[in-house]
Amino acid sequence: MQEIKKINDSVSLNNFQSKYLGKNSILCYYFSKLVTLNISERIKCSTILNSFKQKIKNKIYKKKIKLKNNKLINQKNKYFIDYTLPGRKMERGSLHPITMIMEEIIEIFNYLGFNIYYGPEIENKYYNFDALNIPHNHPARNISDTFWFNSNYVLRTQTSSMQIRVLEKNPGPIRAIIPGKVYRRDYDHTHTPMFHQIEGLIVDESISFSNLKWILENFVIQILKKNIKIRFRSSYFPFTCPSAEMDIQDKNGNWLEILGCGMVHPNVLKTCNIDGNVYSACAFGIGIERIAMLKYSISDIRCFFENDIRFLKQFV
Ligand code: DAH
Repeated sequence: MQEIKKINDSVSLNNFQSKYLGKNSILCYYFSKLVTLNISERIKCSTILNSFKQKIKNKIYKKKIKLKNNKLINQKNKYFIDYTLPGRKMERGSLHPITMIMEEIIEIFNYLGFNIYYGPEIENKYYNFDALNIPHNHPARNISDTFWFNSNYVLRTQTSSMQIRVLEKNPGPIRAIIPGKVYRRDYDHTHTPMFHQIEGLIVDESISFSNLKWILENFVIQILKKNIKIRFRSSYFPFTCPSAEMDIQDKNGNWLEILGCGMVHPNVLKTCNIDGNVYSACAFGIGIERIAMLKYSISDIRCFFENDIRFLKQFV
């Protein structure tokens, strides 16, 4: 009894148990000697031994419970939870900067009477290339520039594919914008494999290049909220003629291309059964990330898609 009082851990308790109740214990030895006694002595001694055995068993049982409780108390103290501490604050979410710019741009064009259309990101080569007058040997069709699913389907490389779908469905006049994601095999500080464009298309009886210029100039002033230097640079796109690109000067004096535009090519109008004698059309494709980079002075486009909360927080 003295011995068990001092025990403080389960290993010692197990040792204690085998010492007093195990096969080689003194108790077991005495039990084995019972057969040598006569019957009355045997009854007397076995009663004593059994009550002794029961007493030890009880003590061990109680000790076991005590050790278990001690362990729980220790754990509780170790992992103490203070329920009175204030809770963790829920972070408030916000729109992604690209979504915000996109909505702003849509609003500007809505105000000018443009309707908004959305199209598929998985596009067939007819809409992405053929109907846009892009020749079969054009490098844009190359596997190194475009994500092809098979010989017919691509991840659209430009929202211009939607020009065709809109022209097919609407007899004209048309004022359409098509925002969305586009995909190209590109990756550096001004290119990511996925980026956003807004396509614009105007079809009417006497649409000219000056209408296009006016719209784009005013769009830039509204979105960047300052009188920024712009220039139109003559360019080439298979689906427009004449074609131009619009550049904007950043604060370091560098010219940054933000959109392509032009008068819709007669071949495209013909493919879509638009009567070129009645209607003329102009179109433009704006790079959303480029606008956002200029507006917020961001030098690396990849920031938009890395999901770094420190970057995104600045637009809340
Ligand atoms: N689709 C062209 C591109 O991704 C941009 C573009 C150029 C769109 C001229 C147009 C356009 O609508 O008229 O580079």
